[in-house]
Amino acid sequence: MSLVISKGKQEFLYQQVIQLVRELCDQGTLLPGEKLPSLRKMADKLKVSIPTVKLAYQTLEAQGLVEAREKSGYFLKTATMQPARPKRVRLSREPVSVNMQVLIEQVYDAIHQADVVPFGIANPVAAAPTDKMLARTMRRVMSMAGSRAINYGAIDGYAPLKKQLIRRYLDFGIGVDNQELVITNGAQEALTIALKCVAKAGDIIAIESPCYFGIIELIESLGLKALEIPLCPDDGIWLDDLSQALQEHDIKACVFSTTINNPVGSFMPDSKRKYLVELLESHNVVLIEDDVYGDLHFGDTRGTPAQAYSKKGLVLTCASFSKTAAPSYRVGWLIAGKFAAQARRYKRAFSCSTSLINQWTLCEFVASGEYDRNLKLLRQKLRSNKERMIWCLQQALPKAARVSDPQGGCVIWIDLGKDYDSVKLFQLALEHGISITPGYIFSATNKYRNCIRLSYGLPWNERLELAITQLGQLLPLAKK
Ligand SMILES: Cc1ncc(COP(=O)(O)O)c(C=O)c1O
Repeated sequence: MSLVISKGKQEFLYQQVIQLVRELCDQGTLLPGEKLPSLRKMADKLKVSIPTVKLAYQTLEAQGLVEAREKSGYFLKTATMQPARPKRVRLSREPVSVNMQVLIEQVYDAIHQADVVPFGIANPVAAAPTDKMLARTMRRVMSMAGSRAINYGAIDGYAPLKKQLIRRYLDFGIGVDNQELVITNGAQEALTIALKCVAKAGDIIAIESPCYFGIIELIESLGLKALEIPLCPDDGIWLDDLSQALQEHDIKACVFSTTINNPVGSFMPDSKRKYLVELLESHNVVLIEDDVYGDLHFGDTRGTPAQAYSKKGLVLTCASFSKTAAPSYRVGWLIAGKFAAQARRYKRAFSCSTSLINQWTLCEFVASGEYDRNLKLLRQKLRSNKERMIWCLQQALPKAARVSDPQGGCVIWIDLGKDYDSVKLFQLALEHGISITPGYIFSATNKYRNCIRLSYGLPWNERLELAITQLGQLLPLAKK
């Protein structure tokens, strides 16, 4: 259609701009989640004034069709058209031993197959790649490192990187002692060390449900028992369920994503996180917070790590650069609080140290400011990808499907309905060159067989949209 505004028409100019934007939406020229042309660009194109376009955009915002994002412009919304959220689930209140290995292995195999559409892998950095920046930084580091490049690093990590992290936690008012901070091989090793510090085989660990399968597998490998606490799709675990579980069981520790959850993408507000810490510390129960997705929030501010609210030192923080810079570098960290001495001992016993060159490179990357600049871009890309994915899912899925509305991170959780088997869909999709993650592996008690997790942490393109359509077409074959 031609972008023409007529000054002779009865409607005001701004009303014609509104009409035009609505037509662009109806035709699919402008898709949910997409940015509207800037005020200046639109004004130039339509040969009207900037205030006229601004008034039109503000009216569309008031009508709920678009949203203004600070310093980014106006975006087409999907919220009014979103499918229903996943329902609250009923779970067994008994802790269980875990066994999920075979399916998890199949999921990992699928992720690494060449040329699949990788909805099954949660690597958000792919949406705003860091490879070139990191390669440049690493070349500089190698030229400075000399023979240190082939030496062991310190057990608890590269001191300048630790300094950078300590400085970043200060922004949240968290004073981290150098002794209690241990650099690890990714968050996974941080979680392993944290669990080893606080629990022994047979102990009960509360996890959120659905829960990232790496944690379920870790609990299994350490001989611990998992007790699932249901997760609210909006703001993290249901505190009333947790409170009841604390009365009923001798829980040694909780492992929760305290900011943004994987696989649902829920975001726990600071007030709830503070209450959670108070509740657990009143029962002398340790909280192991998994904060790998905290920096990938879509709202204006990042959630404060639970560490900030600890009064008794019973919060251990696990995080990494895997979701924000490069999972391949395997650099994470643990704030071990009063378990610092044990944490350093376990680090020494498990892996001696973390790659010095990788730590050094990330340290320079953070210090140069490039890390934060890319993080900002990454958040924007992920947020826009999420909107695109929700829009595509709406076209592809049956009406009864329920889809989460992630408030950060790179994954979305879909309840297909009780008639569907996600393990069947996983296998069918793979035969058609698409990897997905079946919901089954996000529970220790065989829940979520009717759910799937998809990643939008990808460079968005038409192939992904076609793959979502194809998933929808495969669904009738994935009935139980
Ligand atoms: C919620 C969650 N925790 C921990 C990890 C492990 O992170 P890392 O790659 O830093 O070991 C992941 C990785 O996918 C994750 O999604």
